[in-house]
Amino acid sequence: MLPSSAVFGGASLLLLLLLLLTTTLSITTTASAPIIGLDSFLTQQARLDPQASSDSFLSLSSSLKKSLSLSHHHPPSISSLLSLQLSVPVTVKLVGPDFPSSAPSILHSFLSASISSDNFHIIAPFSPHLHHLSLTHSLHLDVSLSSSSLSSLLSDTLRSEVAKSPSSLRSPLLSVPYSSIDQIIRQDFEKEKPVQGFFIYLLNLGASKSKPYAYSYGFGDSSPAFTKCLGSVWTGKDRYLWIDLAAGPVDYGPGLSGDGVLPRGEFHPLAALHGRPKSQKALLADLASLVWSAYQVLLVPSLRIPVPFENSLIIQFIHIYGSDSKDINGLDFKSIERTFMDEVNDGALLLGDQSLSFKTYDVRYSECSICSFAISRATTSYTSRYLFDNYTLIVNEYLDSKRLHQILSESTDEFRRLAGFPEEDFGRVLPVYVFDLDFNTILLLDRYHQSVAFKDMVVAVRTKNTQTVSDYSCNGRHVFTQTRELERPLVGSILQSMWGVSPTHLLWSPRHNSTLVDYTWSVGQTPFGPFSEISSLSFVQKDAARRNVLLTSLNYSITSAIDVLESIASHGGDRKLLKQNRHTEFIQRWNLFKHKLDKAVSALSHLDFEMALCFLRSSDHDLYAIHSLIYQASQELEASLVCFKDPPFPWTSALMSAVVFFAVIFAYVKRDKLFRNKRKQF
Ligand SMILES: *[C@@H]1O[C@H](CO)[C@@H](O)[C@H](O)[C@H]1NC(C)=O
Ligand SMILES: *[C@@H]1O[C@H](CO)[C@@H](O)[C@H](O)[C@H]1NC(C)=O
Ligand SMILES: *[C@@H]1O[C@H](CO)[C@@H](O)[C@H](O)[C@H]1NC(C)=O
Repeated sequence: MLPSSAVFGGASLLLLLLLLLTTTLSITTTASAPIIGLDSFLTQQARLDPQASSDSFLSLSSSLKKSLSLSHHHPPSISSLLSLQLSVPVTVKLVGPDFPSSAPSILHSFLSASISSDNFHIIAPFSPHLHHLSLTHSLHLDVSLSSSSLSSLLSDTLRSEVAKSPSSLRSPLLSVPYSSIDQIIRQDFEKEKPVQGFFIYLLNLGASKSKPYAYSYGFGDSSPAFTKCLGSVWTGKDRYLWIDLAAGPVDYGPGLSGDGVLPRGEFHPLAALHGRPKSQKALLADLASLVWSAYQVLLVPSLRIPVPFENSLIIQFIHIYGSDSKDINGLDFKSIERTFMDEVNDGALLLGDQSLSFKTYDVRYSECSICSFAISRATTSYTSRYLFDNYTLIVNEYLDSKRLHQILSESTDEFRRLAGFPEEDFGRVLPVYVFDLDFNTILLLDRYHQSVAFKDMVVAVRTKNTQTVSDYSCNGRHVFTQTRELERPLVGSILQSMWGVSPTHLLWSPRHNSTLVDYTWSVGQTPFGPFSEISSLSFVQKDAARRNVLLTSLNYSITSAIDVLESIASHGGDRKLLKQNRHTEFIQRWNLFKHKLDKAVSALSHLDFEMALCFLRSSDHDLYAIHSLIYQASQELEASLVCFKDPPFPWTSALMSAVVFFAVIFAYVKRDKLFRNKRKQF
């Protein structure tokens, strides 16, 4: 009898232990592992409701809700919100016979030593001095040698192109059309598809070292009046770029003085192969710095301005014309519209159900007194001395864009009346004021610009004057500005104001606490800067446009969630503020919210912008619910605090304590009797 009961007791103890063990195990696994079924639930929701218009929390199964309330792997903390990081996958391909087999690993080690994670930066934030977002990015690098077939195909093509190219008296560089090389590289890139990430091809083909060459990006050659800038890089429409290290050396930048010049010397990494021979290590260090610069400027560029999400984007061209006949040469609004709509139809620039529309309004300069007032108020002059026979003083006029901006902002109503444009209630409206003046003198904005972007408008100007020599030079020759050609400058400015896309030569540097200028990437396919003539967009601008909106929205969600947490903390913590039911819902909502943010960041890392938007919108429902939970709870708490402020004399509790007090005294007096009675039982 006795032994069998002992066996039973032992077995049940073992069972109990086992049970305990499994429950603790399951608790620890839910704490660290992802919640089973949540991802597939969210993916299904994203498919059913791509705009995330309904609150997915309401259709969660009870088991998912339960594991969301159990799981504490997202404890509500500010630090977890501030540690969201995008990974940026980059594949570097070394093309050419001269790269040793150790090159990939050396380049990899140089780059991982020099690039740590960093915040996304903003050149012109709305709140001054806060030039970064809470989100960080980090490079995920893969370096490999490319196949020898690619490199020999490229070498052969290059050799024949160089042989074909006529030598020119104007330039020491032979010009090779970029497209001959680009189509081969594009094919190689296509073969890699589906790719998630960016490709950087570094070409060192070793061909025709005797004849220096560089790439031309347009039609025709340089002439006395047109400088075609030759370069050695190309950024594709798809996510790849290539750099031909053997091309050049090229130089372009400010002609007289200023930052950002790309020098002919051997110190710039683009000229790594030129000049004195270098050791392999020194060459690879230069290449690492080139990849680093491409990463900063092209792959994670600074935001020009923060750009909130809006459903409808409207661009209003306001053409203020002076002469009787409108000349659309160089100012064809339809062609600007086409540049953007081509990208939109390709699935770039816009997100989700966003729409983009263009409207054109005309204002006659002679009938617009505010226009002539604005021009005369903004006209400023500067003097400079040029050496002709002697040093001659020259006085030039220009428009002060900031003053013009101020007058135009203050007289929006007047323009609305004159041009007859409606007041748009919804969406983001970007007015583009184009002063098409009947003057014969040169009039540029801030001395150098045909068009200037502000966060709420674009201002552009042209006069009858057709060209001027700019302060920039390229391969030893001055760059001319075709002052009547406004289409490309307008495309660049609209990209800045509407989508916060930074010009290819601007970068915010937190170390310098200022904007840096570097023209390295300003040749080839970019709508920005004086060295290119191309207004089509590369992947750099197309990605930046959508990424900027998503980053701004993500940052907004983070800020809003931090507000909630701070409000909870000011009420003494979540357990104090929230009663049981509410606390459970809060934890569930928070876990779901944080999970969706993580999913949005991961979608951004995979460059799946639509999915990122969907998760972000879906997370807004949870954020809203959290806000209202906290709001209700804090209202009730404050209401109860108000009740306690001037409490009436608590008769009931006073009576109760009196009763208890006397009972205790009574018990104390009678304690011997009471305990004796109890003791009897044992
Ligand atoms: C400078 O040269 C210009 C013509 O090039 C002449 O008109 C002017 O008088 C000269 N000024 C002086 C101070 O010599
Ligand atoms: C950066 O510069 C601005 C003014 O130019 C200054 O107000 C600010 O304090 C500076 N920030 C840092 C971190 O030095
Ligand atoms: C980004 O988030 C941080 C932290 O929440 C906030 O301080 C900052 O103002 C936000 N920036 C923008 C542009 O929204």
